[in-house]
Amino acid sequence: MLGEGRIKTEDLQEMETAMQKARDAVNEMRASGTAYKHLSKDGTPEPVYFTRLPEIKNGNPNTPVSLQKLKEFGDYLRTNVDAVVFLGVGGSYLGNKVLFDIGAGPSWNSMGEKRRNGYPRIYFSGNNLDAGQCEEIMNELRYWSVHAWPKKKRFKVMLVPISKSGSTLETLASFIYFYEACNKSVMFDTEVTAVTDRNPEAGSPLFALAQKHGWRCFDIKNGIGGRFSVLTDPGLVTAAAIGMNVEELLKGAGDMEEACRMDDVYANPALMNAALKYIASERYGCHIEVFMGYGERLGSLGQWYVQLLAESLGKKHNRNGETVYYGRTPVPAVGTTDMHAQTQLHQDGIRNKVVQFLQIKNMPGDIVLGMPFEEPAFKKYNGLNMSDALAMALDSNAEALNGDRRFNARYVLPEMNAYHLGELFYFLMLSVAYEGELANVDAFDQPGVEAYKKIMKAKFAEHSN
Ligand code: PA5
Repeated sequence: MLGEGRIKTEDLQEMETAMQKARDAVNEMRASGTAYKHLSKDGTPEPVYFTRLPEIKNGNPNTPVSLQKLKEFGDYLRTNVDAVVFLGVGGSYLGNKVLFDIGAGPSWNSMGEKRRNGYPRIYFSGNNLDAGQCEEIMNELRYWSVHAWPKKKRFKVMLVPISKSGSTLETLASFIYFYEACNKSVMFDTEVTAVTDRNPEAGSPLFALAQKHGWRCFDIKNGIGGRFSVLTDPGLVTAAAIGMNVEELLKGAGDMEEACRMDDVYANPALMNAALKYIASERYGCHIEVFMGYGERLGSLGQWYVQLLAESLGKKHNRNGETVYYGRTPVPAVGTTDMHAQTQLHQDGIRNKVVQFLQIKNMPGDIVLGMPFEEPAFKKYNGLNMSDALAMALDSNAEALNGDRRFNARYVLPEMNAYHLGELFYFLMLSVAYEGELANVDAFDQPGVEAYKKIMKAKFAEHSN
């Protein structure tokens, strides 16, 4: 990011006062639980509590009681439930998928032994209005239920609709579908755990339904917006379902919070990240950020970051009501896969991008190639360590971009475990909050989504009549 043709020391020096102001604003957010001029979509003041996520304490979003409840939920699923279907979209889905992809992985449902000690199969739906996807999952549940039948056992399914508002079309449509389909069949024993805003004043229809049916219910607390919610109940239910260490996840977030409380703005990693991205965007025209994690399991993390960046910073007005059209378009990418698809554009295309790499130093898996073929062209692969080759590919990509003074940066995690994932989630959320301050936009609202929602609501009402 720094150097000739890119950000100069003077750029940062000129930003120092703005960085100090951003630091103070986030400190104020930490202390008061409010963000300057932030209003809910109804136009009323709304708290912002995401900086309180790491600390497990009464009065905070995560309490000793809420953590115990999650633990009991995980134990219950492990000992009683065959499959869980999480139903949610946007902030009520994206973080859950990351937790699953990193903590469980692609073979979780098929390879029994990976689901240590009887953890259930996990499915995600409600993230679209895709009938085919719902039917495929339902068919798979039916398939497994047939296998359970000879043991004279009904297949136990836990449906987990996750929705802060409790009224999101995608989530409710798929929940209704699965609830009906499962309850129609004698093969299934169906339970529901709802995750929604339990404050009666919020008026979540899902909460009312949960109360009526006596379903277990987790809370999405006031002051926690969807894209900032992965480190509390709506995200942690998935961590609990796969036996991920929730305390470690929050400890990672807590240590990152500590590291970002420095008074010296240059020593605060999230603030520095925000300042560099802001300068790249505002002074050097980098209005696109490619988030490129190296490794298959990092794809959904890129999708989660897309929502965080797009909804938080993509704003028409600043907090003084002036038209600013701020924002950086996030593009998810996976290395090395997208080196064969996007890199041509990153390297040679319009100079309006930051390529943000994510590297895991110790990748899971340990493959060193042998020499099953004698042909000379295959000799060079003998002894190749696949993880070393992945690192080499990343280094080469960065070096090529640097060779043409293209903006790029790299986050490095020692390994992909709950602790480091907690650090990374929190670092990115905090960084976006700092950038909101630097750009003077409200990082916690999303007024732009109301435009289509209004039209869709009217069309839906017309359709239902
Ligand atoms: O960030 C957001 O607020 C949105 O992406 C929401 O998470 C998404 O629309 C789902 O909303 P809800 O949780 O109310 O179903």
